[in-house]
Amino acid sequence: MVGGIKIAPSILAADFARFGEEIRAIDEAGCDWIHVDVMDGHFVPNITFGAHVVEAVRPWTKKPIDVHLMMAPADPYLESFAKAGADRITVHVEAGPHLDRSLHMIRTLGKRAGAALNPATPESAIAYVLDHIDTILVMTVNPGFGGQEFIPAMIEKIKRVRAMIGDRPIELEVDGGIAASNAGGVANAGANVFVAGSSIFGSGAYAQAIDALRAAAAGLEK
Ligand code: DX5
Ligand code: ZN
Repeated sequence: MVGGIKIAPSILAADFARFGEEIRAIDEAGCDWIHVDVMDGHFVPNITFGAHVVEAVRPWTKKPIDVHLMMAPADPYLESFAKAGADRITVHVEAGPHLDRSLHMIRTLGKRAGAALNPATPESAIAYVLDHIDTILVMTVNPGFGGQEFIPAMIEKIKRVRAMIGDRPIELEVDGGIAASNAGGVANAGANVFVAGSSIFGSGAYAQAIDALRAAAAGLEK
């Protein structure tokens, strides 16, 4: 169901030597989506993993695998991530000149299509694709690394994106520096899907961290 609070742990912060067990652990700890941060060392100054990792972790969970492609170009790789088992594929608006075509390609592959906005990119970049998009991902850090500080200026952008969405069935996802300490304000601005790497995998207690993040987003923090 679109809307409603969802917690999407980023495996960027997981133990890379134990991906399967880590995916099972966050699944059993109550996450909603599994967020997979793909980095190509070109679009962002870091390299993580490709479609083979999605294929490897797919059997470990039945929950939606939410692939965030921090790569340019992304189009040549969409089919491989779709075949590997991704449920949602998000490309960066800055990754190439044909966002509309990329989103159509993802939907043609039978997957949920998303567009990600870097902190300096205005929300107007997605104004003409709102009627064929399933996720808008507002980056709340500059992409490339986990464990960075949340950029407070993104609150205003989240509010504007929420207003643009109107009553369309689009998930508003945020990614970067998200924790129980800021999730309430981010939710109040209009986000409903919360990507978190460090604040979940760095907690040592995944269920408690997910519950705390969900409670904070719901404005129920203690
Ligand atoms: C940035 C990554 C991170 C990651 C979350 O390129 O996309 O935002 O998902 O990292 P934390 O939650 O540790 O900031
Ligand atoms: Zn991400």
